[in-house]
Amino acid sequence: MTWDFPDVNPFANAAGDYGVSVDGVIKGIPGMMMATGYATQADASIQDISRDRLISTDPPYYDNIGYADLSDFFYVWLRHSLKSVFPDLFATLAVPKTEELIASPYRHGSKEKAETFFLSGMTQAMNRLAEQAHPAFPVTIYYAFKQSENETETGTASTGWGTFLDALIRAGFGVSGTWPMRTELSNRMIGKDTNALASSIILVCRPHNAGATATTRREFVAALKTELPTALAHLQRGNIAPVDLAQAAIGPGMAVYTRYARVLDAEGKTVPVRDALALINQVLDETLAEQESDFDADSRWALAWFEQFGFSEGEYGVAEILSKAKDTSVSAMDDDGVLVSRGGKVRLLRPDELPDNWDPASDPRLTVWDMTHRLIRAMEQGESAAAELVAKLGSEADTARELAYRLYSICERKKRAQEALAYNALVQSWPEIVRLAREEGKPESPQGTIFDQE
Ligand SMILES: C[S@@+](CC[C@H](N)C(=O)[O-])C[C@H]1O[C@@H](n2cnc3c(N)ncnc32)[C@H](O)[C@@H]1O
Repeated sequence: MTWDFPDVNPFANAAGDYGVSVDGVIKGIPGMMMATGYATQADASIQDISRDRLISTDPPYYDNIGYADLSDFFYVWLRHSLKSVFPDLFATLAVPKTEELIASPYRHGSKEKAETFFLSGMTQAMNRLAEQAHPAFPVTIYYAFKQSENETETGTASTGWGTFLDALIRAGFGVSGTWPMRTELSNRMIGKDTNALASSIILVCRPHNAGATATTRREFVAALKTELPTALAHLQRGNIAPVDLAQAAIGPGMAVYTRYARVLDAEGKTVPVRDALALINQVLDETLAEQESDFDADSRWALAWFEQFGFSEGEYGVAEILSKAKDTSVSAMDDDGVLVSRGGKVRLLRPDELPDNWDPASDPRLTVWDMTHRLIRAMEQGESAAAELVAKLGSEADTARELAYRLYSICERKKRAQEALAYNALVQSWPEIVRLAREEGKPESPQGTIFDQE
């Protein structure tokens, strides 16, 4: 997001347009008439307004946004005109900063101190919620934070997630589920040409089961291996964006972790949340890798090659050995237009190198790899072009979506952001592509439009 200046076109029929803005306000009016809103300002770590209430809350996401600093920009003007109307709210000269629950190194002196502040403040805030919330309902918490690749001894995990979940568990909550919810506009600034999150993850939390017993790390991993594949298949059926998958898997994974009083390693020490997150990511990756058995031999070869070389060149010898292992042949894939093999070097063809006029019906070696990359090629011309292809592919097409998930996770891990973007976009557009593909098959509507009339 660019924080420095706004640059909007008031007549663009997009965000910032007068008409769009007025429409937005109009849409809100019926809602305002149906419910009475009530706003109050209080510090989350000492508030008592949540007592016996049903709580759904959207806390700050670690170090994502410095709300208070940004608010100062508006605050000085609002204070000038509204101080007499809301004297309590505008009592201070600038927006209060010290209680703000974000991990901001510049405010606390170092990254470590900022993390400690966030952990203790968030634990206190969650404690207030755990103590006061209505016992009949779970507390739901939004957390739209992307897991970045922080390497730890056990694998990858994210400090922003680890610290937040730690606070949640210290406050006496267990996670009983997660719902990915599409809360973000696809055209927002941060989502432009980046792999930004498409969803918020809603954590469903209940007080930790007092009768829970301890378990071992080995049993925890075994339970993850049993339960994550079903949870993952469910998320994929719901067409979750690949970029959100790792965050969404935290829920089912943490549900397993918080089911126990403690998870103990071989030395009898508690496995910390951060390591549990790394294990969840590891099992997620293994589960995605297991889905590979659904793919044909050429696609499995291409996947393994892609993981190692991407679309860059590699040695022919390596390609040849891999082809034996995957039960396929380099020359057949060369003939099929999946790769080029010249002068002792092999490389996969990029989607932009694939010819436009591909007809799956006349391809004797139709593979999932082919379908996926031809669809990405078609997406350059828009969803309608991809839909035309899906209409020709029929029910086969869905495996291309499955492969796109796998390819996205490889690109994320290997930090190939540009390629990740294409695989993520294909899955995100899938419902629309399928809808358009269905329409392709229908006869033209005999009803004319207003523009057909002279
Ligand atoms: C993710 S944002 C919520 C955004 C909101 N859902 C919306 O759509 O506008 C987190 C909010 O928590 C507020 N916040 C930060 N520290 C707080 C504290 N100690 N007590 C109460 N609120 C706090 C921030 O000012 C920010 O408005």
